[in-house]
Amino acid sequence: MPIIAPSLLAADFANLQRDIELINESEADWFHIDVMDGVFVPNISFGMPVVKAINEHAKKPLDVHLMIVQPERYIEEFAKLGAETITVHHEASIHMHRTLAQIKEAGCKAGIVLNPSTPVSVLEDILIDCDMVLLMSVNPGYGGQKFIPQTIEKVKKLKAMISERQLNTIIEIDGGVNLDTGKKLVEAGADALVAGSFVFGNSNPKSIISELKKL
Ligand code: DX5
Ligand code: ZN
Repeated sequence: MPIIAPSLLAADFANLQRDIELINESEADWFHIDVMDGVFVPNISFGMPVVKAINEHAKKPLDVHLMIVQPERYIEEFAKLGAETITVHHEASIHMHRTLAQIKEAGCKAGIVLNPSTPVSVLEDILIDCDMVLLMSVNPGYGGQKFIPQTIEKVKKLKAMISERQLNTIIEIDGGVNLDTGKKLVEAGADALVAGSFVFGNSNPKSIISELKKL
């Protein structure tokens, strides 16, 4: 069964506690938290006070996806706010080996995110240090975008790299996930699926989450 991580970016921010409770009661595994700075990506989402408020109500682990430049500046702060996993973009952190160590020293699981245009080959010498790799299947910045089909091949390549090295690295996918793309991703080797608009845009998010769990 895939790990399902609903993205709160698509939640109703005026009713955030209601939507958090909905995820608490659902079969979802994690809360996916998208932090955007308006520099690394064109959009600005939310910052520390909102993550703190989420953590006060969330009963499942927080999977914090940092879409910010120089993410190493904020790792300890997000760890203190309750992040279980922190993922940082390959494209945003120059000294990634050091950044991953910093995340682990802060007590969190560490992951690298790759943009759609970044090949999985950049992970060759760092995969061993990743608890998770998050492959973007849309260009980061916005929810509700169309899934980029080349992601399926990337998942297969990454899965082979992980098996070759006999690692337990989790493959997570983010962007345009629905039942159709989700099925293909799981078949290709994805372990965790982020879903925003597909979950919260539905009149019955809990049943959608159950459907995704069955993939
Ligand atoms: C996009 C974010 C995603 C977003 C996914 O930059 O990283 O987590 O919420 O949204 P959907 O599932 O609507 O594509
Ligand atoms: Zn995300």
